[in-house]
This record gives sequence, structure tokens and C-alpha cells, in this order.
Amino acid sequence: MEERIISGEQQGREEDMEQSLRPEFISQYIGQEKTKQNLRIFIEAAKMREEPLDHTLLYGPPGLGKTTLASIIANEMGVQFRTTSGPAVERAGDLAAILSSLEAGDVLFIDEIHRLPRSVEEVLYPAMEDFCLDIVVGSGPSARSVRLDLPPFTLVGATTRAGLLSAPLRDRFGVHGRLEFYETEALAEIIRRTAEIFGVSIDQEASEEVASRSRGTPRIANRLLKRVRDIAQVKGEAEISLATTQEALGMLQVDEDGLDHIDHKLLLALIDSFRGGPVGVDTMAATIGEESQTIEDVYEPFLLQKGFIQRTPRGRVATPKTYSHFDREVPGL
Ligand SMILES: Nc1ncnc2c1ncn2[C@@H]1O[C@H](COP(=O)(O)OP(=O)(O)O)[C@@H](O)[C@H]1O
Ligand SMILES: [Mg+2]
Repeated sequence: MEERIISGEQQGREEDMEQSLRPEFISQYIGQEKTKQNLRIFIEAAKMREEPLDHTLLYGPPGLGKTTLASIIANEMGVQFRTTSGPAVERAGDLAAILSSLEAGDVLFIDEIHRLPRSVEEVLYPAMEDFCLDIVVGSGPSARSVRLDLPPFTLVGATTRAGLLSAPLRDRFGVHGRLEFYETEALAEIIRRTAEIFGVSIDQEASEEVASRSRGTPRIANRLLKRVRDIAQVKGEAEISLATTQEALGMLQVDEDGLDHIDHKLLLALIDSFRGGPVGVDTMAATIGEESQTIEDVYEPFLLQKGFIQRTPRGRVATPKTYSHFDREVPGL
């Protein structure tokens, strides 16, 4: 897959930088007011009862702060943060080993939880519900099932779409937190916070410019800021200016709506090759050489939210906004 500066997914060696930028407590986590407000109440109540927080499912497109929020939950509860991911847990025994090493109250974070194999998922059900593990010992006619108690813990699951989870798994989460694309204001605040951690200063308008081109996504905002900072540094600018920001983003081929050349390719194909649609997501995926699932989880949510694409039962269609973005006449008008 081609690396895109505006992809919400984590790229290359980004992990280290992200780790250093991660807010540690709710008070430092910018935006997502509704989810934060709910979590604050649930966390406080759980602490008063001296119980672990209910199992929590966080969902939303990549880069919106799911992993960050999961670690914040552990910090706020004052417990250990243990992490794994759906694809990393291959066998039921792997998960049983992780679960039996937990200490009372721990947060176990399972990223991409929709990718847990079914057989592994079944180990989770009694663990989530009754804090126990059912283990089969022996084999053949002498095989029997033994029940092991686990310490009470909180499972925090993250997924790009809640609908990707099986219903029995989804139903076992008491708390559901849906993360939304960030408003420009919140993103600009995140950018200013990141700039401070980087030890650089950025002009107010420049931070808003980066914010408005970041697809509502903190991961993208931080990544763009890093590149803008590099250019400002080479130019010897003491404070990152709006002009430098615009120049840098132009060089990165990120347009004023945060779209890049692949979005352009996709939208122009929709307009030109498919006459504005409707066209199926599989056909769109083939057009840009991507998996349908990636289109649906990573690229399309922002285009849908901003009204560049509409979803209909017969496929995706272009909107008047798509045409005007490319200075085209809407056909039939
Ligand atoms: N609300 C927020 N406030 C400040 N920084 C954030 C916020 N949400 C995400 N970030 C930053 O964006 C980056 C990506 O967040 P992450 O939690 O890894 O996203 P996800 O797990 O949803 O893909 C991290 O470096 C994180 O510090
Ligand atoms: Mg994550």
C-alpha cells in the first residue's frame, strides 16, 4: 500500500513520536466531549465502588485517539495498562495466558478486536462476564473442563467500526464510546499542544490552517505539523507562519480540504469514469488499487462526512460539492 501523508493509519516508525505526544489524563485529552463526559462519570462511579470500570468498546476511524483514550482509562483508574491486538492473538491458549497474568483491576486493551479469531473470542465471553476461564484438560474420553477464576479486570476493545464485531462480543461491553472526527478548533488546540512538546512556536492562523487540512484526525494533524516544522526550520523561521504552512502543505499535495492525490483520483474516477455513480465500493477499490475494507474504514468516512461522497443502496454517488471541488459543472443542471 502506498504511504499517504493524510492516512489516519499509523505509518512506519511513527509509534515513538506518538507515544511522546499521548495525553495521559482526561483533562489533557482535547475534544470528544460527549465520550469524555460519559467516561468521567463511569470512572468516578467505579472508583467509588472500588470496582473495575465496565468493559469498554471504543470505535471510530484510525487516528482519532482510541489507543490514547484506552491508556488514559488505565491512568485514571490507577491500574496497569496491558495491550495486545486481535491479529496478535492467534490461539485460544494465547489469550488464556494473557488473561491469567492479569492483576486485579488491570485494563486489558485489545486493539483491532474485530480481528480476533472466533475460537479466541469464545474464551473472552466467560472472562468478560464472570471473570473466569474454561479450560479443557486431558483429551479423548477423559477430557474435562475446568473453571479457573480470574481477577476482575476491564477489557477495553478498539475497532474502526462497531458493526465489524460479532453481536455476542459487542453485547458484552457495558460502555460504548464512539469517537468522532474533530472540529478544526479542537485540532488546532492539539496542534498547539504538540508544537509546545516539539519546542516550536506556531502562529495561531497557521495552526488553524494545519487543523483544517487534517481530515478531523489528530494523527494526521501531528504528522503534518512535523513536516511543516521541518520546512519552517530550514527557512530559519522563529515562529511557524501561515505562508510557510501553506507552502509546505502545497508541497505535500494536501489540498485546502485535506484531500490528496488519491482522493482526487477516486473522486475524479467517480465523476468521469462512472458519471457520478452509483458505483459499488469494490469497483472504487479496484480503481485506486485498494481493498474495499480499507476504503470503507479509512478513506471513505471522511469523504462521506464532508459530503464528497454519498452512500446509496446502489453504491456511492458524487455530490454537487464533488463537482464544485474540481470546478466542474454538475451534469443535468
Ligand atoms: N484528543 C486528543 N488530544 C490530543 N492528542 C490526541 C488526541 N487524540 C489523539 N491524539 C494523538 O493522535 C495520535 C493518534 O492517536 P491514537 O490514540 O493512536 O489513535 P487510534 O488508536 O484511534 O488510531 C497520538 O499521538 C495521540 O497522542
Ligand atoms: Mg490505535
